[in-house]
Amino acid sequence: MAILVTGGLGYVGSHAVKLLVDRGEQVINLDDLSYGHVGAASGSEVVIGDIGDAGLLKSIFSKYTIDAVMHFAAFAAVGESVENPQKYYINNISKSIVLLQEMLAAGVKKMIFSSTAAVFGEPQVVPIPEDHPKDPTNPYGRSKLMLEEILSEYDHAYGLKWTALRYFNASGADPSGTIGEDHTPEHHLIPIVLDVALGKREKVSIFGTDWPTPDGTCVRDYVHVTDLANAHILALEALRSGASSNVYNMGNGSGYSVKEVITVAEEVTGKKIAAVPAERRAGDPARLVASSEKIKKELGWKPQFADLPTIISTAWEWHKNHPNGFGDK
Ligand code: UFG
Repeated sequence: MAILVTGGLGYVGSHAVKLLVDRGEQVINLDDLSYGHVGAASGSEVVIGDIGDAGLLKSIFSKYTIDAVMHFAAFAAVGESVENPQKYYINNISKSIVLLQEMLAAGVKKMIFSSTAAVFGEPQVVPIPEDHPKDPTNPYGRSKLMLEEILSEYDHAYGLKWTALRYFNASGADPSGTIGEDHTPEHHLIPIVLDVALGKREKVSIFGTDWPTPDGTCVRDYVHVTDLANAHILALEALRSGASSNVYNMGNGSGYSVKEVITVAEEVTGKKIAAVPAERRAGDPARLVASSEKIKKELGWKPQFADLPTIISTAWEWHKNHPNGFGDK
């Protein structure tokens, strides 16, 4: 039995693929290379193609006996989703519906789905529990919430069992040093800050210094990508053991402001990081911090890299040793 991973050459997907391969699972890695890198395959069986290509999916499901699908493939830039919502709804919703259609046609009824903290919008309580009201402030978050709702209906109607893992801010790099974060263009704070430390960028812009937070900059919950990858393995095992469909928030329960991230990055790298105040970025909530008690209690998730200096250290190792990322874009 194989696992079909969509978007398994991307940032979080490639870290889950590595753990799956290390555990001896057969991994079929479907990626369209829009953001993925062939160098991130970790020995998985790569198929280059689109999750919206029903013919390709049919051929995959008939060639391999697929036990479960880990569905990472999606566009994930908050700001871009506000500028171009259509791109997000077509890719994240329409194409996912084609994937679900072909799963069901092949009798594959387990999915682990990459969801996001962006489903909540501006939180009413922090840390945010799973049942917190959902009011996304951007089309990206809305696209992920819509897919959670679709999955819930598909469970009811077709018996599809699914686990949504709502990542807060995925960051860091696998401690092996073989894979890490490489987006083109890069939107995320930590890699941008580390590019400044490397001298690849002159400065980082701080998107808003007048937010209702202690230092006026946005607060986020940074969670290590290998800890996220581990949660996928736990979710897979739970579904294999007959668990019902479920949703889990994935973070460390501590919030760091943009300014605090820059300070920690200066300590880790030993470099001065130039930062300038800039306009707020459209679609950003002020503060997102997870309660991840549910996955700890129900699936026994134990983050190994929970503190920000460790997270940034692993990211720094990757960026220092791979200043051009995977070197393919
Ligand atoms: N930021 C800056 N300057 C930059 C880049 C980011 O100030 O150059 C700020 C952002 O405004 C935000 C914080 O740093 O306040 C973190 O930004 P990221 O782009 O690194 O991450 P986001 O919080 O926007 O988004 C991430 C994931 C999303 C997910 C979201 C949920 O990329 O998929 O976390 O918290 F939805």
